[in-house]
Amino acid sequence: MNVDEALKKRISVRAFLPDPLPEQLVREIIDVARFAPSGGNLQPWKVIAVAGKERDAVIAMAQANMPGEDDDRPVYPANLWEPYRSRRFKVGEDMYSLLGIGRDNKPARFAHLAQNFQFFGAPVGLFFVIDKNLGHGQWAHLGMFMQSVALAAIERGVSSCMQEAWGRLRKPLHAHFGLPDNEMVYAGMALGFADPNKPVNTLRSDRASVDEIAVFKGF
Ligand SMILES: Cc1cc2nc3c(=O)[nH]c(=O)nc-3n(C[C@H](O)[C@H](O)[C@H](O)COP(=O)(O)O)c2cc1C
Repeated sequence: MNVDEALKKRISVRAFLPDPLPEQLVREIIDVARFAPSGGNLQPWKVIAVAGKERDAVIAMAQANMPGEDDDRPVYPANLWEPYRSRRFKVGEDMYSLLGIGRDNKPARFAHLAQNFQFFGAPVGLFFVIDKNLGHGQWAHLGMFMQSVALAAIERGVSSCMQEAWGRLRKPLHAHFGLPDNEMVYAGMALGFADPNKPVNTLRSDRASVDEIAVFKGF
């Protein structure tokens, strides 16, 4: 698989098969992803991988701490504006339509969202940890690492879903993993084999065209 193919093939999978992922495969994925670039080569990332009983324990901890809360670094700014508001709305509606969940069916929508906290059935959960004293630059670099994990995974037939949802459980996650004061979990990632029979995995999210996002000068 070349880089172009991996970029296009990586999608957010939200229904996984229960088949386990061997530790060696997860290690291999992280071993490749650690070559992601970072300003000053700070490599401002750590990752906690959970499987088996440890995965179950995180899921139980999440259930005990529902619905969680936003801290001073919420997933989205309040009152999202255009064009972001419409893009977020569209991908949500497209997803719920594939799930057969109508706009007014709040309990079913909530139940789907809650599946984040079971890694959508994936056998492995990753948690991306950053030193909270680092700045916005380093958060961007952590994102490069996360994308590198997802690309290294898809090359090996392993699907993923990045999960900011776990940000609502930062405090209990911090305690659960016994992190030092200066560290915090940014986001999670579900990792495993996609269930090919689940319609939600056929979701292909839109992208703005090159002309909408790029300006070319001096060519
Ligand atoms: C950092 C990050 C966090 C995300 N968090 C969640 C999440 O908590 N739950 C979820 O279902 N999708 C989550 N997503 C998936 C996005 O909704 C998805 O990437 C976007 O709609 C584009 O779709 P695609 O990944 O299939 O290309 C997240 C994506 C990123 C990059």
